[in-house]
Order: sequence, then structure tokens, then C-alpha cells
Amino acid sequence: MTHKLKLGVLISGNGSNLQAIIDAIAAGSLDATVQVVISNRRHVYGLQRARTAGIPAITLDAKHYETFDDFNRALLGELLHHRADLVVMAGYMKLVSSHVLDAFPNRVLNIHPALLPAFKGAHAIRDAFAAGAELTGVTVHIANENFDEGPILAQREVPILPDDTLHSLESRIHEVEHRLYPEVLQDIATGKIQLCVRPCGARYQRRACPC
Ligand code: GAR
Repeated sequence: MTHKLKLGVLISGNGSNLQAIIDAIAAGSLDATVQVVISNRRHVYGLQRARTAGIPAITLDAKHYETFDDFNRALLGELLHHRADLVVMAGYMKLVSSHVLDAFPNRVLNIHPALLPAFKGAHAIRDAFAAGAELTGVTVHIANENFDEGPILAQREVPILPDDTLHSLESRIHEVEHRLYPEVLQDIATGKIQLCVRPCGARYQRRACPC
């Protein structure tokens, strides 16, 4: 049975992955609603994408909070206020604190444009290209308190071709991201991927949790 997901999407910029999620919902291939989009940066295009789709769009600027924990408490407050049940980091370039992770156990996801654990960080596509790698890809994983770490839910390979430029590689990786994130979310909605929310020690599983 499909369970309609209530997504809280975190962004820091362009929001093309957010757009892919919005488009998949509109096309009927993702059983979800985007309850709220929260950006840690002002005036980014992703906020406009949200407003165009009629989704509440909020900026929370860490500079306006005394500590990282205060900022994350405010973030958690907005996610709860908008009744999100799954947090989706889509180009969100900040860590989430234990306040958020504990409130959403195994329910904070991230997408990264490389085959983790390779090429973590904010410039993964450029780094893989510069390293002369022949293969890179896209990873969707459960987030933890470190950048680009946590149990992997899905990976898709993208070969780096001899005549690739950084630009052509970026385009192909983004295309894969825009398919993979909605697919993983739909697998969660249908129960094909089950995320255990109880403290059983199992971080995630593809079958029913035994706890
Ligand atoms: C995406 O490529 C995403 O995978 C990456 O930021 C980009 C955001 O694009 N995230 C990371 O590098 C996380 N370490 P978008 O704003 O157009 O979705």
C-alpha cells in the first residue's frame, strides 16, 4: 500500500532536484506532497520554484541565530509546523544537527553527485573530473551529522567519457539525479524501501523491520 509522503525539502541554491520532485508529483509518478521548502540562503532560485508551485518557501539564515543548535531548532520547528514526515536535502549545503536527526530518525535523506564514499564535498563532479576518474555517479543516502555520510539507499553509475567536458558531465549527472531522487522517494512511499523509525539499530532495510 502506498503511503503519501509529506516532504520537507531543504535547499541552498538552484533547486533543480526540488523541481524534479515537484514535477514527478505533478506527473503522478511520486505519491507525495512538498509541505515546505526551506533555504539557508536568501533569494536563491529554488525558493522561486517552490512559490511558483504554490509551496510555502522559507529562508532561515544561520547568521540570525546565535548558535548552530539554535538555527537547527528553528529548522526543526518549521519542519514540524508544516507537518513534514520525511526531510529531503536537495542541494542543501549545511549539516543538520542531532536535533533534527533525532526528531526524524532515519528520515533525513541527501543526494550527492558522486558514488559515495568517493568524492564527498561541495564540488564532487569537478573533483571526479579533475581526478581523471572513469566512473562517477549519484548517491541517495540517509544523512547523519557529517557531510555526505550515512547508509546508502541507491546509487547509479555515470561513466566519464573521453570527450566529456566538465559541463557535459555535469549535465549527465544532473539528469540522473533528477530521475533517481523521485524514484527512491517513490520506493519509500510504496514500501519497497522501508526506513525503520524505531531505535532497533537497523539503519534502514528493504524488507519489513524485524524489531
Ligand atoms: C546537486 O548536484 C546535489 O547533488 C549537490 O548539489 C547540487 C544541487 O543542485 N549536493 C551536494 O553536492 C551535497 N554534497 P540543485 O540545487 O539544482 O538541486
